[in-house]
Amino acid sequence: MRIKLKKILLKKNKSKIVSLTAYSKNIAKILDKYVDIVLVGDSMANVLYGYKNTHTIDLNRMIHHASSVKQGIKNSLLVVDMPKGSYNNINSAVKNVKLVMRKTKCDAIKLESNKKNYKIIKILTENKIPVMGHIGYTPQFKKKFKVEGVGKIETKSLLKEAMMIEKAGAFSIVLECIAPQTAKLITKKLKIPTIGIGSSVYCDGQVLVTDDMLGLSGFYPKFVKKYINLNRIIEKAVKKYTREVKQIKFPVKKNFLNGTKRRY
Ligand code: KIV
Repeated sequence: MRIKLKKILLKKNKSKIVSLTAYSKNIAKILDKYVDIVLVGDSMANVLYGYKNTHTIDLNRMIHHASSVKQGIKNSLLVVDMPKGSYNNINSAVKNVKLVMRKTKCDAIKLESNKKNYKIIKILTENKIPVMGHIGYTPQFKKKFKVEGVGKIETKSLLKEAMMIEKAGAFSIVLECIAPQTAKLITKKLKIPTIGIGSSVYCDGQVLVTDDMLGLSGFYPKFVKKYINLNRIIEKAVKKYTREVKQIKFPVKKNFLNGTKRRY
């Protein structure tokens, strides 16, 4: 794990860090061949479970999905999001993070900043737990989805927040929906890598929600590039299957099991 983490840290100012989200083994197995970081994001609340926001996903569900993802991972760094309410104070943060690490065998955890939880990050990292920070639009703490870091005051405040997170010992930090010049400044000032989502090309790496970039989620803000329209492809296959079942074209003989032997 230390080697995986070190390799990612060494990419700063050299090559871009690639990250995507996964909630299950099959997707993780594909991502693992290409990306540096697989994130089990609490975005699963909206994307997978159809909740209005990320607030209702609980620790157990994060652990179940992360355990599934872990089965598909050999090379990438596995980071698990701590859900809202699971790190409200130092004691619950240490207890819950240790539980996640033990049950999922992940490499690191991510937690969102509320500009007050630097001490929690410090205690976790002192306990040798690699922590990824998250600033800008932080869905667990902010209601409105908007560009962050616009204007001098916001920029200064975000930079300070990022520096406090770095000082607390985080190994990297997600910048979500941050204005390009602010993301650029933060990336320049920090020694740890910044991973951007909707925060321009000036970050040390990029992350997207996999279901968004595959065209599965139906959520396509400007910063998402839809690399394929999987919805359309899946629908086509389901339509064909339905037609063939109804027309008795499936199953055909080659899909029948052997009537004389037990083995497939
Ligand atoms: O939950 C998530 O998927 C995330 C990414 C958007 C960074 O936090």
